Amino acid sequence: MKFRNPPVLLFILSVLSLSIPWTTAGTVSIDGFLQCLTKYPHPAHTIQESIYTPQNSSFQSVLVAHINNRRYSTAATPKPLAIIAAKNESHVQATVLCAKHHGLQIKIRSGGHDFEGLSYTSDVPFVILDMFNINSIDVNVADKSAWVHSGATLGEVYYAIGTKTNVYGFPAGICPTVGAGGHFSGGGYGFLMRKYGLSVDNIVDARLVTANGRILDRKSMGEDLFWAIRGGGGASFGVILSWKLKLVPVPAKVTVFNLTKTIEEGVTDLVYKWQTLAPQLPKEVFLRAQPQVKNIDTKGNKTVAVSFIGHFLGTSDKVVALLNESFPELGLQRKDCYEVSWVESTVFWAESPIGTPIEILLSKPTEPETFYKGKSDYVKQPIPKHVFDSIWKKMIEIEHIWMDWNPHGGRMSEISESATPYPHRAGNLFFALYYSSWYDEGIEATNKYVSFTRELYDMMTPYVSKSPREAFQNYRDLDIGANQDNKTNFETATLYGRNYFKGNFDRLVRVKTMVDPLNFFKHKQSIPPL
Ligand SMILES: Cc1cc2nc3c(=O)[nH]c(=O)nc-3n(C[C@H](O)[C@H](O)[C@H](O)COP(=O)(O)OP(=O)(O)OC[C@H]3O[C@@H](n4cnc5c(N)ncnc54)[C@H](O)[C@@H]3O)c2cc1C
Ligand SMILES: *[C@@H]1O[C@H](CO)[C@@H](O)[C@H](O)[C@H]1NC(C)=O
Ligand SMILES: *[C@@H]1O[C@H](CO)[C@@H](O)[C@H](O)[C@H]1NC(C)=O
Ligand SMILES: *[C@@H]1O[C@H](CO)[C@@H](O)[C@H](O)[C@H]1NC(C)=O
Ligand SMILES: *[C@@H]1O[C@H](CO)[C@@H](O)[C@H](O)[C@H]1NC(C)=O
Ligand SMILES: *[C@@H]1O[C@H](CO)[C@@H](O)[C@H](O)[C@H]1NC(C)=O
Ligand SMILES: *[C@@H]1O[C@H](CO)[C@@H](O)[C@H](O)[C@H]1NC(C)=O
Repeated sequence: MKFRNPPVLLFILSVLSLSIPWTTAGTVSIDGFLQCLTKYPHPAHTIQESIYTPQNSSFQSVLVAHINNRRYSTAATPKPLAIIAAKNESHVQATVLCAKHHGLQIKIRSGGHDFEGLSYTSDVPFVILDMFNINSIDVNVADKSAWVHSGATLGEVYYAIGTKTNVYGFPAGICPTVGAGGHFSGGGYGFLMRKYGLSVDNIVDARLVTANGRILDRKSMGEDLFWAIRGGGGASFGVILSWKLKLVPVPAKVTVFNLTKTIEEGVTDLVYKWQTLAPQLPKEVFLRAQPQVKNIDTKGNKTVAVSFIGHFLGTSDKVVALLNESFPELGLQRKDCYEVSWVESTVFWAESPIGTPIEILLSKPTEPETFYKGKSDYVKQPIPKHVFDSIWKKMIEIEHIWMDWNPHGGRMSEISESATPYPHRAGNLFFALYYSSWYDEGIEATNKYVSFTRELYDMMTPYVSKSPREAFQNYRDLDIGANQDNKTNFETATLYGRNYFKGNFDRLVRVKTMVDPLNFFKHKQSIPPL
């Protein structure tokens, strides 16, 4: 592995080694850390304006602006000693080096959508390295590429592409407030995945800051590290500054639709057929099934309604004809379809009404809305029909739960399991997100809904992947094995590591051992060095 150091960095590193004594392991000095930050040359922005401690009046608002899950925004949630909202890469380098020298753990945060809050909580003293200020996007249509800084949201990425071209897009996730930093480093799936694969299958370069404070790009980091950060989770390897995306062609108009049927309307038969049909449809069709609980009357009777949410890279006439032939039971008609540009289809997926101005993609949350728990599963064999009845029954009992069932197949089956750390490729019918969310405060409500979610997950055990029971690393779930922030146990890491990465876990461990042998970049589910 070759490291190329720009001259200014060599200067920074030598200043640091002269002026900052190493502290003994275990002692934590926040004052020393903060002083250390200012000792660096910061050519673009002074670092003072990036530092928030609890004394700053906006500390709390900056902290919660990028917390997505209210479960990790309670009085009991451990708070950072400081937030460094870096404005320039020199701030990132200084934060990494000073934290290391002062025995502080850093949590790297981009969009803050980690299901388990790992980007902004820890059970040891820590600071947040917040990336939201480093969010510029440079779309180059002639080159069919875009450089995207980690603090950009998916909505900003879609907007930046969509305002420059209507014949290119990018395959990534559905929620516009998710951050590029966590999303791309964890895989990134969305409605273009059957045609183009995951985000990571279309990322061609990246820049990151290592544990030694060096800035590397694809060429200087080498193919092993570049492989690892495309699906293995960035936070085990370094701080990703930016990604280079390869844009993908899309028609000027795409078709979207959303048809919902209840149990009473025969949805069980539809879903039973959907599970083997959707993965075999042409790559241009993405047909998600989304079961959720619905009231049938005002007397409290409930049912399950499954929405079949579709995206087609082509005209409505074509998709209606295609589904009329292969899935007539769904009853899709032209009047159910909307022909919109690709960027408008991202607004549709974000659940805004057709016709909403695309500026909605730029809106930013100011605090978390709901408490939630998510889990994931991969389905390889058709689920027997009667099992769907049990799923509906359990969902109605839980009520505050919905699922997303996303078909695989198409491009997903053509990419080898080891091409990226994301191993769930050929052989999957679909993967499932279990997502319960609630507004009731307090630990009792949390315990209730979390255990309901686990009950549904347990009920599904016979019908999903086994040994390992595969899980999607972007849908972080601490139930499948979690370490303490101050101690990474290899056996525990092997549990979640195999579920998320299967055989790729071993290569991730080798890369980790090579680039961060002292395990500076760690969290409850990070990749351990040997
Ligand atoms: C409402 C919602 C909808 C979602 N929809 C989708 C979807 O459609 N498709 C999909 O694939 N996923 C989806 N996800 C999951 C999402 O992709 C992951 O939660 C992702 O990790 C979030 O990225 P973030 O930057 O917002 O999160 P963060 O919480 O900031 O980070 C997540 C993880 O990445 C690390 N990290 C963040 N930035 C960096 C960086 N710059 N360098 C190194 N490490 C970093 C963090 O330390 C943490 O471990 C969704 C999540 C939510 C909450
Ligand atoms: C936070 O307060 C400190 C001390 O008053 C100040 O130096 C710093 O600039 C403040 N940070 C921000 C982001 O305003
Ligand atoms: C940081 O500042 C330098 C010098 O002005 C500039 O070249 C670079 O683009 C900046 N980086 C970021 C991420 O803002
Ligand atoms: C890690 O932290 C926990 C509490 O957060 C503490 O009980 C434990 O002793 C610590 N372990 C080590 C190895 O420091
Ligand atoms: C609706 O609820 C009422 C009262 O509990 C019950 O008598 C009735 O059978 C329910 N109807 C349906 C369709 O389940
Ligand atoms: C669907 O197919 C049937 C026969 O296969 C045909 O009669 C009908 O017109 C088609 N409907 C649409 C909307 O294409
Ligand atoms: C699809 O319809 C369901 C049921 O009305 C709704 O809850 C969901 O938000 C819709 N999804 C999209 C993407 O329009």
